[in-house]
Amino acid sequence: MPINASIRVNVTQVGATIDRRIYGHFIEHLGRCINNGIWAEMLQNRKFEDADLNRDGIPDPWLPHNADSQIVYRTEHESSGCGYQSLLLHSLRADGRERGIAQGGLAVQGGEAYRIGIWMRGEDIGRLTVSLGDVATKVGPPGPRWGKYELILMPNTTTEDASLTITVSDRGKLWIESVSCMSDEIHDGLRPDVVELAKAIKPAVLRWPGGCFADGYHWEDGTKERDKRPWRWDPAWKNLEANEFGTDEFVHFCRLIGAEPYICANLGTGTPEEAGEWVDYCNGTQKSEQVIIRSQMGYPEPYNVKYWSVGNETYGTWEIGHLEPQAYGQRFLEFREKMVEKDPSIQLIAVGADPLVYPDWNRAVLEVVGDKMNYLSVHRYTPLGRSDTDDQEKLYRCIVAAPMTVEYMLRQVRTTIDAIVFDNKIGVAFDEWNVWTTTGPAEGIEETYLMRDALYAAGIFHALHRQAASVTMANVAQMVNVLPLIVTNKTQAYGTPLYYAFLLYANHAAPITVGSDVTCDTFVAESVGKEPELPMVPYLDVSSTMTPDYRWVHVAVINRHPSEDCLAKISLRGCFPKGNGQAVLLSAPSVFDTNSFEEPERIKLTEFPLEKISEDFEHVFPAGSVTMLKIAI
Ligand code: AHR
Repeated sequence: MPINASIRVNVTQVGATIDRRIYGHFIEHLGRCINNGIWAEMLQNRKFEDADLNRDGIPDPWLPHNADSQIVYRTEHESSGCGYQSLLLHSLRADGRERGIAQGGLAVQGGEAYRIGIWMRGEDIGRLTVSLGDVATKVGPPGPRWGKYELILMPNTTTEDASLTITVSDRGKLWIESVSCMSDEIHDGLRPDVVELAKAIKPAVLRWPGGCFADGYHWEDGTKERDKRPWRWDPAWKNLEANEFGTDEFVHFCRLIGAEPYICANLGTGTPEEAGEWVDYCNGTQKSEQVIIRSQMGYPEPYNVKYWSVGNETYGTWEIGHLEPQAYGQRFLEFREKMVEKDPSIQLIAVGADPLVYPDWNRAVLEVVGDKMNYLSVHRYTPLGRSDTDDQEKLYRCIVAAPMTVEYMLRQVRTTIDAIVFDNKIGVAFDEWNVWTTTGPAEGIEETYLMRDALYAAGIFHALHRQAASVTMANVAQMVNVLPLIVTNKTQAYGTPLYYAFLLYANHAAPITVGSDVTCDTFVAESVGKEPELPMVPYLDVSSTMTPDYRWVHVAVINRHPSEDCLAKISLRGCFPKGNGQAVLLSAPSVFDTNSFEEPERIKLTEFPLEKISEDFEHVFPAGSVTMLKIAI
């Protein structure tokens, strides 16, 4: 049975202006978010630094190629400066047989050029053969000193499983250190398909490098010449980090997609001085050591990174550098001193906590730091404590209702801030949020987002619109893979239903909030994980906004009913509707539907004209959908 509802929109009830930074994002060195996601390097373990050796003594996933007893392999601490170790290929016979190493599983497009770089040096070794897929060329011979050799190969055949091989047929020694393979069309290391998808959702701000990763990250590891950056153990996610994507690459990515960069400084294993140097590297204008390095890297102009947080989730015992709130407050002030010394114009974000889980943290930090912070951050993943049910209907109800508890939580954070620091000087940065149902190790976190989750994201936007005066930044975690808006494989990228919620709101919601309320049936969302039961969740949630020229009112309506359309009577008050408009709809055959590589746009936005709009009109909102009615007034 279709559900009924009445919606009242009052454009004379003008509320706060929405800060565009609530449509913000987050990327982290975690799983396939950056490496094997945003970053276009095709090879794994390209510097042989991952010490897991296979049977022949070659670091995984490299393999011996055409090997027999006449070639031996050994990792050696003999380096070009590109890393900790190189791989020695010691060839014992010159009999015309090509022996060497290979890495398979590379996706190549026939007729496309690939740029291959190899750092190497040789001892009595002749030319080598480098092949990619079905094409090969001769290189060298390498001299006794380390040098980088670059070549372009254009395979004829398209395949997902090409190999890159490096072989010798001579007798002698060859040391190889840093090998790279990327499409020759990519000169900045960023995947163009990811950049295009990211641009379309108009990300206002992008947080990096973590997350938990940030509290073990030393930013200088990710600067200077890329081939020579060290690989480091990432103590947060227990992984080797290649440092290919560092500060320069991050800021460049931000510029390409139109986002303001937001950096999270390392409070865990870092120092205030180190954070100060990072600010100087990014924003310095004087000829300091850091500014000279930045200029030498080709970036003489300051990056002007405005947003900086000091640590991440320091309240959590899992976090590197975990502290009690008073100690965190003191440490924040020490970091602040060194950071603002380098650039007094930066905005600082302090670690805040979810009051439902850590009821005393925010007050204690605020009492120490006061208005020396510009934002207090807070994170929330739904369901709180992850899912503990296999009942998908129950999980659905919990997830689509959860924005109500998020809104309540954001209000609590505001109340605590206002009790200690007056004049609304501190904004709330809701700088990690998303649905996260599964648990698992870092490389195993790959949520599949459904239409259900698009309804959740829309609900979060409505909560943020209602809290527009208080919450002035929000960052969904994460933009690419892991907890994804954008999913990639080796050759394709597509947007999840969550992505389309961002596409809808970042492009079609107007900036000025106006009054609206709804009367409709409700449902019960049972407790899942640590989410409390919600006894009266309205099926519809409405947020209305107006354009700055007062000519359009945009009424966003979520129908959370999984199977029933809703016929709503809508009354517009305080304006004279012109009669026409446009609707943008996000819907799916089922709330459990999703997009995939096979059907990347099964769920997407559709647009259609609105006619006969008067002060009172009716509209049908499909089951499990989000609609933006853009009405001329
Ligand atoms: O987004 C994944 C992780 O979740 C982040 O690293 C951390 O801040 C949060 O706990």
